Amino acid sequence: MPQHSSASEETPVAKPGSGRDRQSAIYSAGVVGITPAVPTSFAGLERAAQKVTSPKGWAYVAGGAGEGRTMRNNRAAFDRWAIVPRMAHGGATRDLSVKIVGTQLSSPLLLAPVGAGQLIDPEADLHTARAAASTGVPYVFTNQGGTPMEEAAAEMGETPHWVQLYWSTDEALVDSLIGRAEASGAEALVITLDTTTLGWRPQDLTLGSLPFAQGLGIGQYTSDPRFREIVADRIERAKEAGVASDVKVTLQALRSLISITRNHPGSFWANLRSPVPRASVETFLDIYSNPGLSWDHVATLRGRTRLPVVLKGILHPDDARRAFDLGVDAIVVSNHGGRQIDSSIASLDALISVRGAVGPEPTVLLDSGIRTGADVFTALAHGADACLLGRPYMYGLAIAGQRGVEEVIANVVAELDLTMALTGATDVKSVSRDFVVPNPTWPGVV
Ligand SMILES: Cc1cc2nc3c(=O)[nH]c(=O)nc-3n(C[C@H](O)[C@H](O)[C@H](O)COP(=O)(O)O)c2cc1C
Repeated sequence: MPQHSSASEETPVAKPGSGRDRQSAIYSAGVVGITPAVPTSFAGLERAAQKVTSPKGWAYVAGGAGEGRTMRNNRAAFDRWAIVPRMAHGGATRDLSVKIVGTQLSSPLLLAPVGAGQLIDPEADLHTARAAASTGVPYVFTNQGGTPMEEAAAEMGETPHWVQLYWSTDEALVDSLIGRAEASGAEALVITLDTTTLGWRPQDLTLGSLPFAQGLGIGQYTSDPRFREIVADRIERAKEAGVASDVKVTLQALRSLISITRNHPGSFWANLRSPVPRASVETFLDIYSNPGLSWDHVATLRGRTRLPVVLKGILHPDDARRAFDLGVDAIVVSNHGGRQIDSSIASLDALISVRGAVGPEPTVLLDSGIRTGADVFTALAHGADACLLGRPYMYGLAIAGQRGVEEVIANVVAELDLTMALTGATDVKSVSRDFVVPNPTWPGVV
């Protein structure tokens, strides 16, 4: 378990909002020799997080598909644009708030769903929920968390949460998860379309490491009544068929068994004697996602939930149009942080064509490549209504737990606020295309 620094010696984290307040808090703490627990540059954040993360954890969180070209595209797309500030605009205050599909956001930022966070911290989902609650930044719960959504929701206080789902091959499980999301108080349902199967991820493949196979990241499933029914049925059928275990007994197999056993709900010793934990892992791997997912499935959503529906993983303008034609409330332009397809279009580039295709009205969010407040500004300028923050908050979590997530959020919002202050944008809507031009020095800068 990572050792996090003690709160008493840290720079205070105020509710994010004013960039100047955040700067002042950091500089004032600096006067008495206290520096931020979490580096304020992304490069520093990444370096510090890698130092405290296991090789398997780092491969999973920082790694991407193939040769990593999509991850590089995501960043290069931001480098290709330059912000052109306006002077003497007289705007001394700013309003960062924005309403997205009925959810009130204090700033145009949400925390992206990030699965298998247990690789970073056994309580990843709870720490993140508490940080979201204390900063007021909504959190999109992952379908692949280690903690049941009801438990994370209990930590959210007044801060809204959304729930993300993958489309299972078992339709009754889809309904069960939707029902739980509604009952947990989620304000929107996010359906991720881009992971009908896992992408080719050499960092994980090289280590032979898949968190779910160790029983990590399946807490939403093992806590689900319909999922448990499917597992019980699987065990029953295996008994009837007299199927024996074909796993070779090696040290790693034993470690995996212990990890699966430990991560399953209930007592370790009872789990060790039970076929359920292993059958749960196998069932999860079989049914968590539907390779045959089609627009016909998506079309059923309106009749299955009263929540606003958000489709995540849209990159093509035609898919965006189709989504809105089907009546979804919002889309997230995203390439899953470059984890699914190598050489995929950068999400910022996709945003530009998607926004061009759907016009100014529909709600379009963006993730994949957001590292700083200036990135959020650039995305807003290209028509994003809000952005989802992914890896940066996981890195904060690795370095300093809940506190680390809070600092990362506060820093991103502070920089967004300062960028707006310095460019003359007084509210989120006023961050328009007028503030950005193709970067004249690109690609001549590093
Ligand atoms: C370790 C990891 C796990 C993720 N798990 C999920 C997930 O369970 N569901 C989902 O919709 N997206 C998932 N994503 C994608 C994020 O929601 C988001 O699209 C991505 O992190 C954006 O890229 P960036 O972090 O590089 O900015 C995951 C991303 C990472 C890095």
